[in-house]
Amino acid sequence: MSTLLITDVGSLVTNDPAHGTGPLGLLEDAAVLVEAGRVAWVGPAASAPAADERYEAGGRALLPGFVDSHAHLVFAGDRTAEFNARMSGQSYSAGGIRTTVAATRAASDEELDANLVRFLNEALRQGTTTVECKSGYGLTVADEARALRIAASHTPETTYLGAHVVAPEFADDPAAYVELVTGEMLDACAPHARWVDVFCEQGAFDGDQARAVLTAGAERGLIPRVHANQLSHGPGVQLAVELGAASADHCTHLSDADVAALAESDTVATLLPGAEFSTRAKYPDARRLLDAGATVALSTDCNPGSSFTSSMAFCIAVAVREMGMTPDEAVYAATAGGARALRRTDVGGITVGARADLQLLDAPSHVHLAYRPGVPLTAAVWRAGVRMV
Ligand code: NIG
Ligand code: FE
Repeated sequence: MSTLLITDVGSLVTNDPAHGTGPLGLLEDAAVLVEAGRVAWVGPAASAPAADERYEAGGRALLPGFVDSHAHLVFAGDRTAEFNARMSGQSYSAGGIRTTVAATRAASDEELDANLVRFLNEALRQGTTTVECKSGYGLTVADEARALRIAASHTPETTYLGAHVVAPEFADDPAAYVELVTGEMLDACAPHARWVDVFCEQGAFDGDQARAVLTAGAERGLIPRVHANQLSHGPGVQLAVELGAASADHCTHLSDADVAALAESDTVATLLPGAEFSTRAKYPDARRLLDAGATVALSTDCNPGSSFTSSMAFCIAVAVREMGMTPDEAVYAATAGGARALRRTDVGGITVGARADLQLLDAPSHVHLAYRPGVPLTAAVWRAGVRMV
């Protein structure tokens, strides 16, 4: 079995306090040994074991690959005109989702697959090695099932979001659409999905409808996660916590009770600053959640409507500048936080036994991800020990 030693790492983020200093478990002058796709050893470069192959990091920073735990990448078309109108003063509404639904339904399987691959590669080139991928732009039994089938051929982190908005055909009978989502559509989608999600929001699904969707999914073995409290205050966060969801996503409009509920639960608060950036909305208060003791993840929410970015580095920079996070907290949230939101223990950290998902920065420290906003810093990426970038 051949081994790879990445050595002369100036600063190594392990995300394990047992390996180094602070919550990031920082190690200086470090090395990482990779064997059979896994991390086999981590420690000071001076005492590193011999290996078949060596990679000299030249004093640069090595981090876990980003874990993007919230993205909507199976779609066709774009919404440039809608973005332009917003930047001229129009406000964002969930109704724009239907534009992408029409384009997605009209696209072939090959087009959707090629589009998804393009975005996954775009993310990989920016250091992202795990991506969650939702359906939600099909909204028919066949279109939701094919979105998940296509997603599942590229990532195990697939999420059934038939309850994104009420399908246009059911505009006059939302109850019938919820019946479809919890019945025939769920039957077709469950074999291809790990998670079930719902957009719990005015103009999408209310608390009772969201509960019906999540419990039906859970009965089929899917684990809940929720689009919660994005555009207004609502029942989404409390429902997520009550149902033991892995994550409550967005968390922009929170009461003190919502913050306390998240802090006392295992439900991760996943913050998506790309959405507030691209809709010119108020950012979520990460500081408030962290100070209360909640686990915070950062993700892109990459989608053509509210957040058309695949850049986790961008999300880190905005979270530090606008949401009260320190660079350490933001980097942790974009790696270990995302792993927690996906209930994964094999990614999000550089520890012995973890999958060797690693990114080397063209910078001496992870802090540069926030300190040098907009600068492409990805120098190399390994996924499961294989050099990808
Ligand atoms: O997470 N909030 C609901 N869904 C997406 C937006 C989708 C769209 O506008 O196309 C989100 O922001
Ligand atoms: Fe989303």
